[in-house]
Amino acid sequence: MEKIIRKPSTSAELEAYFDLRYRILRAPWNQPPGSEKNEGDAISEHAACFVRGRLIAVGRLDIFDSDYGQIRFMAVEVDFQGKGIGQEIINYLENISKSRGDKGMILHSREIAIGFYKKLGYILIEKSYLLFGEIQHFLMKKDYVIGE
Ligand SMILES: CC(C)(COP(=O)(O)OP(=O)(O)OC[C@H]1O[C@@H](n2cnc3c(N)ncnc32)[C@H](O)[C@@H]1OP(=O)(O)O)[C@@H](O)C(=O)NCCC(=O)NCCS
Repeated sequence: MEKIIRKPSTSAELEAYFDLRYRILRAPWNQPPGSEKNEGDAISEHAACFVRGRLIAVGRLDIFDSDYGQIRFMAVEVDFQGKGIGQEIINYLENISKSRGDKGMILHSREIAIGFYKKLGYILIEKSYLLFGEIQHFLMKKDYVIGE
């Protein structure tokens, strides 16, 4: 399966990017269209994975503070989950973060995804916020190893 990870650029790609976010991270909780976007989208780094031109995974990199990046809005199309694509999106965003000089990355993981981030070297720090009154999130963190 040939995959390309890059930022979405055309308006059709951006539409597919936000649509995937909506379908995976918002629609199952009956959230309204538009709830998948926020003001950070204008200034963040975006990653999308394309297979034969179809957008099948997304992720966003924010600046958390002067030393850390923050990964947000990770979503992989249902029939492409568990094939290593989420991991590749994280690697892509970590490389951008490392190249701009961050010391590490933080993120707030849904309870169901904690094992995924642990596999990628993130450690669980603490329980954080509850989304939509029901999805518990957990703060996780990774410090980059110098020379990595
Ligand atoms: C969570 C998600 C981003 C992971 O992406 P993915 O492409 O399915 O995961 P990968 O195939 O890259 O998994 C990498 C490794 O983590 C493991 N893994 C993946 N999801 C896992 C989970 N939920 N719990 C434990 N381990 C998991 C895989 O088995 C794999 O391990 P391996 O290298 O030993 O085979 C994706 O499944 C998804 O979009 N889920 C629904 C939305 C969601 O929960 N987003 C995260 C919000 S914080």
